[in-house]
Amino acid sequence: MKKSKLLLIGIVIFLAGCSNSASEFESEIDGNPSNECTPEFPGMDVTYNNYVAGVLNMYCIECHHTGNSQGPGDFSTYSGVLPYVDKFFVRVIPDNADMPQGNAPLPKAVRDSLNVWIRNCAPQN
Ligand code: HEC
Repeated sequence: MKKSKLLLIGIVIFLAGCSNSASEFESEIDGNPSNECTPEFPGMDVTYNNYVAGVLNMYCIECHHTGNSQGPGDFSTYSGVLPYVDKFFVRVIPDNADMPQGNAPLPKAVRDSLNVWIRNCAPQN
């Protein structure tokens, strides 16, 4: 009995050690998708051109656009948004996201898809 409890505790510790934190990921991606990034969901295909760009256009670029002092960056192009995608884990994807500013977080399905795209190394696909 005692042995099986110990085993269980060992498994729990092992599993906790496997969870991938956003900060670990951040150093992996570093604004450069080809730099030592391994797609975490290789079977799932969320594309920049057919999906992500449309979401950003609809919800974000009114503030995140060149010449607009409200939000930093220019999310209307791939190279413009890329330096910011690691921050999406805090500002956009969680249930308590504060972007889009002044609005409720994006619908859960949209946030899930953005999460897949970024964890697949934010490709320009
Ligand atoms: C109404 C204007 C507005 C909208 C719409 C908006 N943002 Fe922002 N955003 C801001 C402002 C202003 C800041 C800078 C102040 C701050 O960090 O809170 C910001 C900051 C951010 C940051 C952090 C940037 C950094 O360098 O730390 C991210 C990431 C972000 N926004 C993502 C988004 C995304 C993704 C969307 C669309 C889903 C969005 N925002 C929609 C105004 C907006």
